[in-house]
Amino acid sequence: MTAAVLLAAGSSTRYGTDKLSEQIGGQPVWLKSFSALVSHPGIDVVGIVTSASLLEDCARLAPAALFVIEGGSDRQSSSRLGVEALPEDCDIILIHDAARPWVSEKVISDVIAAAKRSGAAFPGLAVTDTIKQIGGGEVTTLDRSKLCAVQTPQGAHADLMRRAHASGGAGAVDDMMLLERIGIAPERVEGDRDNRKITHRDDMTQLAAEETRMGLGYDIHRFSDDPDRPMILGGVEFDDRPGLDGHSDADSLIHAVVDSILGAAGRGDIGEHFPNTDPEWKNAPSSIFLTAAAEIVGQDGWQIRHIDVSVVAERPKILPKREEIKTAIAGALGINSEQVSIKATTNEGLGALGRGEGVAAYSAATITRTAR
Ligand code: CTP
Ligand code: MG
Repeated sequence: MTAAVLLAAGSSTRYGTDKLSEQIGGQPVWLKSFSALVSHPGIDVVGIVTSASLLEDCARLAPAALFVIEGGSDRQSSSRLGVEALPEDCDIILIHDAARPWVSEKVISDVIAAAKRSGAAFPGLAVTDTIKQIGGGEVTTLDRSKLCAVQTPQGAHADLMRRAHASGGAGAVDDMMLLERIGIAPERVEGDRDNRKITHRDDMTQLAAEETRMGLGYDIHRFSDDPDRPMILGGVEFDDRPGLDGHSDADSLIHAVVDSILGAAGRGDIGEHFPNTDPEWKNAPSSIFLTAAAEIVGQDGWQIRHIDVSVVAERPKILPKREEIKTAIAGALGINSEQVSIKATTNEGLGALGRGEGVAAYSAATITRTAR
């Protein structure tokens, strides 16, 4: 049986915030790493070693894990705890850093095959930078042809891995170092340039490809027969009367924005999420639909980058209230008002809008998320 241990108990000191909970394509970094291991045909079981704060998430989101346990104060103690928690009947043990979510099936296969063949193996990449050893007033240039940058997963026969860990991990920076200490020379297999470790904040922005989508929204409401009906547009009350007729506050501007956001993420439309037959939404302020739409797309990992609106109406005059509308929309979406653009035009007297029968609005929403 081939078993893998996922190391997810670090504290992301250099990253600044919990890097393993960052989203890639709608799932946290640690879960993407877990999925790579658990879906590999050569791996039978995967156990997770994690921090106290992630224990619950791991147990809930990775029910296929063999175990979810709390790690130690450094990488090697976490690794030892994981190895100790594995069942006796393992033949090969792999250890993988959860901070390497882009590991390929090939690298995992190569490490398993080489560990079976040679006792222990790791992926390594030729170093392209010149490496100098500095200290004690001396500078030595190392022979680059003898150096390699080491990745995970690292693997070994279970008995060797257990023996290496039992011999003590003080000062060790990876699992192969423990094997080297007990006289084993692990085999190097070719690493993968994409199998990078997320260490600093810019690793994420440089490595994770960004996916961008645009969504279109349109809405129209006619003016109310009730002469006292308030006029609400973009979450802001206007002095003009009557306002617009509809089940909620009839804010056609916000309804268009909501549809553009939901459309960009492929999450249906406003009528599906907030049916106008539902008494809950009767005269509801439409800003709550905005906040809800941001939450719906946020669940899929999307961030709203920009909203661009064109209002088509003979009245009211939008321009004097433009900044207020931008602030209201941005506030409800949790973005900055510079990310919201509001424009307006009349319909030059043409058609129903030109006759001043209602207010229409078009909205374009741009959303992004890390895609891989
Ligand atoms: N790790 C672990 N237990 C620890 C320390 C690290 O399981 N006590 C794991 C990390 O979660 C990561 C891998 O070991 O998946 C490699 O560690 P590193 O990239 O150094 O992550 P952190 O230790 O979290 O980051 P930092 O050193 O910046 O605090
Ligand atoms: Mg660390």
